[in-house]
Amino acid sequence: MIHWGTSFRYWVSTNLSPQSTQSLKKLNQTGYFRTLVKSTKTKEYRKMNIDETKMKPQLLFFIGKGGVGKSTVSALTSIYLASKPHKTLLVSMDPAHNQRDIFEQNFSEKPQQVSETLMVKEVDTDFWIEKYLKEATDHIKETYKYESAFNLQNYFNVLQFSPGLEEYALLLAFEDTLHKYSDQDFIVLDMAPTALTLRFFSLPFITLIWLEELLTLRSEIYKKKEIISKIKIAGREIEQDRVKAKLKSLIGNYEHLQQHFLSETTKVNLVMNNDKLSFSEAFRIRKKLADISIVIDRIVINKLKADESTTEIESEFKDQKIGKFRLAPEGLTGYDVLKDYIEAHTEAFHTLK
Ligand SMILES: Nc1ncnc2c1ncn2[C@@H]1O[C@H](COP(=O)(O)OP(=O)(O)O)[C@@H](O)[C@H]1O
Ligand SMILES: [Mg+2]
Repeated sequence: MIHWGTSFRYWVSTNLSPQSTQSLKKLNQTGYFRTLVKSTKTKEYRKMNIDETKMKPQLLFFIGKGGVGKSTVSALTSIYLASKPHKTLLVSMDPAHNQRDIFEQNFSEKPQQVSETLMVKEVDTDFWIEKYLKEATDHIKETYKYESAFNLQNYFNVLQFSPGLEEYALLLAFEDTLHKYSDQDFIVLDMAPTALTLRFFSLPFITLIWLEELLTLRSEIYKKKEIISKIKIAGREIEQDRVKAKLKSLIGNYEHLQQHFLSETTKVNLVMNNDKLSFSEAFRIRKKLADISIVIDRIVINKLKADESTTEIESEFKDQKIGKFRLAPEGLTGYDVLKDYIEAHTEAFHTLK
């Protein structure tokens, strides 16, 4: 995969002709890509040829403002699903990692078995950033061996502080989890607070727009210039353009991730509390996600007190299912405490599916 904004920019500047780079810059300055995001792609991705039978395991994202209870509700939901019994993997995608406090147990990149059907893992963002930087270094060293004048070390010193690495690391970890744990029935994703989560969801979307544009530009260059090598397969001579092939394979990768975000089986749960601040943040998240065609399936109102009215939230979120989680005055930490809470409040999970 290409990391958006750093090696990507480097890659663009070295793989495209000066004219193409210039026209990319011009398009960017005129807001062309922003227009593309808003106009052409949005609703169409919903209709993207998604083979729903392949969208397994089912993904449940828990998103929302910091402190509303994403980690707690993700843990409760995972324990509930595992008790049914469904094979469930809970993944902490928030670099702050609260699951270890909730389960009172240490977790790491490697999933830990918590019960027969429940595993929990924490994404190690630093591990994924380092892995990416190493692969990018090796790849660029290999590709640009001849560029002795270019100061690669300097480039990588800058790269490691580049914005965007965190969401890119999360995306790599997400892709790896999908690949390794495809035998699960459910993967529950306890997400980071809003800003990082929105960048994570947008990454495949934005990258695809760039890649498709690059592919068009590359095809234009291809027409004008002899940049292709010819290989022989079964006696026939076939032209191949390595850059174009690489672009196509990257597009395939990102489309796959995009399909998981947009699949009907994937459910985005927005956790909020019954207060003004989380109310306005919930609106903001819904709008931002709608821009990239991601639909919120369910609103989880957490920390509700007895007899508290939720009619305002319910009338604002008519298209969403509503799940209500009561405040546990004694707190909600420890596996047994969570299990007792689930038994006493099974109605909270009725709108899960
Ligand atoms: N239903 C609840 N009842 C009581 N305490 C709760 C409940 N939900 C969350 N909490 C507490 O609120 C705090 C924040 O919850 P957490 O799940 O870590 O939020 P987030 O992941 O959204 O930042 C924690 O101390 C947690 O124990
Ligand atoms: Mg949390």
